[in-house]
Amino acid sequence: MSESCVRLHFLSLILLCCVSHSTSFFTFKVDSSSYVACGPHQTQALTEFMNEFDSSHCNLSDPFNGVWCDNSTGAVTKLRLSDCLSGTLKPNSSLFRLHHLRYLFLSGNNFTSSTLPFEFGNLNRLEILNLCYNGFVGQVPSSFNNLSLLSYLELSQNELTGSFPLIRNLTKLSVLSLLNNHFS
Ligand SMILES: *[C@@H]1O[C@H](CO)[C@@H](O)[C@H](O)[C@H]1NC(C)=O
Ligand SMILES: *[C@@H]1O[C@H](CO)[C@@H](O)[C@H](O)[C@H]1NC(C)=O
Ligand SMILES: *[C@@H]1O[C@H](CO)[C@@H](O)[C@H](O)[C@H]1NC(C)=O
Ligand SMILES: *[C@@H]1O[C@H](CO)[C@@H](O)[C@H](O)[C@H]1NC(C)=O
Ligand SMILES: *[C@@H]1O[C@H](CO)[C@@H](O)[C@H](O)[C@H]1NC(C)=O
Ligand SMILES: *[C@@H]1O[C@H](CO)[C@@H](O)[C@H](O)[C@H]1NC(C)=O
Repeated sequence: MSESCVRLHFLSLILLCCVSHSTSFFTFKVDSSSYVACGPHQTQALTEFMNEFDSSHCNLSDPFNGVWCDNSTGAVTKLRLSDCLSGTLKPNSSLFRLHHLRYLFLSGNNFTSSTLPFEFGNLNRLEILNLCYNGFVGQVPSSFNNLSLLSYLELSQNELTGSFPLIRNLTKLSVLSLLNNHFS
């Protein structure tokens, strides 16, 4: 992974530390037993999502990666899968059924030649979205303006093109990284 991406990971850690005081991300259990707390529908969507890709290199026991669910609702609220998925991210991906996601960290995966689906706009509870170093192509869809709770958006190290959409709705955004793309 490139140096700037690593640096941004470091920044994201700093940010998460700050954010944790207000939104308590770190109250999610960081061990594999938390998977059990995920509701059956959510577990199914997640399994389907993993099966859309070659995910044989993903290690959900690695504390760096994994899935965290709200232990009262069973909804997936945090998902982190880095450097292990390979395949195309499609608009009908089961990822977009995980409507309760607040934290989505997918970086360094091989989504080579995938575009960013418009359906990202459905994940409108997202606060942290990191999609760096994935090989995404094409334009950032206008639906990103739907993610009005987003405070951190990291899209660096992809092959994104065109102009960046108006994101007037993203009033909470405090970190936006677009480094090393091909925006006009
Ligand atoms: C998965 O991660 C855990 C925790 O870091 C480690 O103990 C285990 O060896 C890893 N498994 C594989 C197949 O790499
Ligand atoms: C669920 O979370 C609450 C606090 O948020 C905790 O007291 C409780 O033990 C947790 N339950 C399980 C099953 O982890
Ligand atoms: C990424 O995936 C494509 C096919 O989707 C494959 O041709 C390529 O070798 C993969 N790259 C890496 C680094 O795994
Ligand atoms: C998702 O769309 C692709 C075409 O892009 C199709 O081949 C696939 O069957 C669809 N999957 C589901 C679960 O609908
Ligand atoms: C915005 O989010 C709502 C609620 O999830 C959804 O119904 C709507 O289709 C989304 N709009 C866009 C443009 O993504
Ligand atoms: C802006 O966010 C609100 C929810 O806060 C949503 O209803 C609205 O559709 C969003 N506007 C656009 C253009 O996505």
